[in-house]
Amino acid sequence: MKYFIGNWKMFGIPASIKIIDRINNFLVRDKKNNKKYKIIIAPPHTLLQDFSNKFKTKKISICAQNCFQKGDFGAYTGFVSAFMIKKIGINHIIIGHSENRASGENDVIIKEKIFTALKNNLNIIFCIGENKNEKRKKLTLRVLKKQITNVLKKNYNLKKIIIAYEPVWSIGTGKVPKLRELQKTAFLLKKFLKSRFGGKYNFKLLYGGSVDNKSIRNFKLIKELDGFLIGGASKSSKKFIDIIRNFYK
Ligand code: PGA
Repeated sequence: MKYFIGNWKMFGIPASIKIIDRINNFLVRDKKNNKKYKIIIAPPHTLLQDFSNKFKTKKISICAQNCFQKGDFGAYTGFVSAFMIKKIGINHIIIGHSENRASGENDVIIKEKIFTALKNNLNIIFCIGENKNEKRKKLTLRVLKKQITNVLKKNYNLKKIIIAYEPVWSIGTGKVPKLRELQKTAFLLKKFLKSRFGGKYNFKLLYGGSVDNKSIRNFKLIKELDGFLIGGASKSSKKFIDIIRNFYK
C-alpha cells in the first residue's frame, strides 16, 4: 500500500473542501489503481471537524497537523490535545514537522507528542530530516537515527507509526535529493529501523520535500519508499492528482 499524504500547513477555509472533493472523485474513478494507495489530507485545525464529518464514509482520511504535548485538557492557550483531535473523529496526525521543529519543538517535546498521540490511538506520521549544513557535513544518517532513537521506544505500538523522511533543505524549495542518494538513505534507514526495533514490524517510509508531478517520476523508481508527504502541491487538486497519475504511469 502506497501513501499520498497532503499537508496543507496554514492554508484552507471551509470552501477548500472542493479540493478534497475533486481528489475523492478521482480516487473513486481510478478503478485500475485505487486499491493500491491511500490518500490522507491534513488541513488546519479549524477545518478538521467539518472535513472529518464530510469524509467519514469516504476512502480519504483527514489528518491533524500537530497537537500539544501534554494532557487532554489544560491551561494551554491556543493549543489542542491529541485527545481533542481523536474525539472529533480524526485518526491520523503529523508530528515533528521541521517547520514545528524550527519554532522550538525539540526531541523531548516530540517524544511527548508521540506518546500522547499513541495513547489516543492516533496513527502518526513522524517527520524526520537533516538540514543543509548537516547534509554538507555528511551527517544525514546520523541525524535521522538520532531523531528516531530520541523519540521512539521499542515497546511502542509501532504499527501506528509511519516515518516521513523530509530533508529540511528540500521542503518548499524545489530542490530534491539525487535519486541514488535518496535510495541509499531510504535503504539504510529501513535497515536501521529493522535492526533497532527487532524486525517485528516493517516500518513504512515516506519521502517529503518538493514532491510534484515531475519529481515523482524519479521518486517512483525507489522501491524502498512507501509513499509521499506533499506540501505545496497538495493545495491544488490537479497537482495532487497528477502526482498519483504519474506515479502509476
Ligand atoms: P513541500 O512540503 O512539498 O511544499 O516541499 C513538504 C512538507 O513540508 O511536508
